[in-house]
Amino acid sequence: MRRMWILGIESSCDETGLALYHDQRGLVAHAVHSQIDLHQAYGGVVPELASRDHVRRIVPLYRQVLAEAGIAAGDIDAIAYTAGPGLAGALLVGAAFAESLAFSLGRPAIPIHHLEGHLLSPLLSADPPTYPFVALLVSGGHTQLMRVSAVGDYEMLGETLDDAAGEAFDKTAKLLGLPYPGGPHLAALAQQGTPGRLKLPRPMLGSGDLDFSFSGLKTAVLNAVNKGLDEAARADLAAEFQEAVVDVLVAKSLAALRQTRLNQLVVAGGVGANRRLRARLDVELAQRKGRVFYPELALCTDNGAMIAFAGAQRLAAGVAASSSQHAIAVRPRWPLDTL
Ligand code: KG4
Ligand code: ZN
Repeated sequence: MRRMWILGIESSCDETGLALYHDQRGLVAHAVHSQIDLHQAYGGVVPELASRDHVRRIVPLYRQVLAEAGIAAGDIDAIAYTAGPGLAGALLVGAAFAESLAFSLGRPAIPIHHLEGHLLSPLLSADPPTYPFVALLVSGGHTQLMRVSAVGDYEMLGETLDDAAGEAFDKTAKLLGLPYPGGPHLAALAQQGTPGRLKLPRPMLGSGDLDFSFSGLKTAVLNAVNKGLDEAARADLAAEFQEAVVDVLVAKSLAALRQTRLNQLVVAGGVGANRRLRARLDVELAQRKGRVFYPELALCTDNGAMIAFAGAQRLAAGVAASSSQHAIAVRPRWPLDTL
């Protein structure tokens, strides 16, 4: 069997990620440049700045992963890149680079759905889950529960009706005066507080379906902040907010496992790095003789490795999403269950 090198490129938001995945050696090289410092002064991602920074970083990162893997451009067999969803301008940088390189090398380019990258990323670990499994996707832009039966076979079980979990973390952190991106800062502050001293709602906990809603939680935090908080109360509110989000994510994940009669849960996306969420899921799944799988911490947030891996899986399964014919087109909005 011929051996394969797949280059992965991620540029959908504020990380430029490149990686080389080899179908027998696994993930051989990966490099990420985060734009957090660039956007921090604005309290959020500025799309135009993001695109420009991707332009600056992509070629040096590409050279870096080639050097790390010790291969030449001509050794690359296929190029996988994030074609959506995400910021249009940012996506276009990765798409233009990927399709042009593929054209010049005479190799296929594989457009990849960003969330597919996230949800397959736990399969990159040493002890991966097996199909079928339930995936909880919790990122800055999405909160979804999916049944994953095979590469490209995804069934939506439930999703957020408004803010994503990561977005709720980020907006609440902003209300508490924490820097961008707020999720990790809020989680750190929560460690100094006690949940339950201040009370927040658990939105849609008893809704009977697998959907989520987080925007009301943010409003409840705003009301508490407006009443005035001392340092201790600020930490207590952070702890209660985190607990409320985790309570809902855990309850709905367990309900999704019951409904599908599966016992493997995969957690992917930036909020999957949250320690409280991990601790609670570990306990709950262990009690039910199930298992929960996470990507390696470095692969929780956006990266090129998960895109290269998704490309490799699609090639192996013969299910390329579409042939791009080297057209440079992106899909800023792209529902995952339409793949
Ligand atoms: O998947 P990701 O890197 O980018 C998107 O595709 O959105 O997720 C980023 C999100 C941000 O909202 C960030 O605040 C959140 O993940 N996040 C966390 C933690 N680490 C990152 N949220 C809660 N706790 C964390 N430890
Ligand atoms: Zn992401």
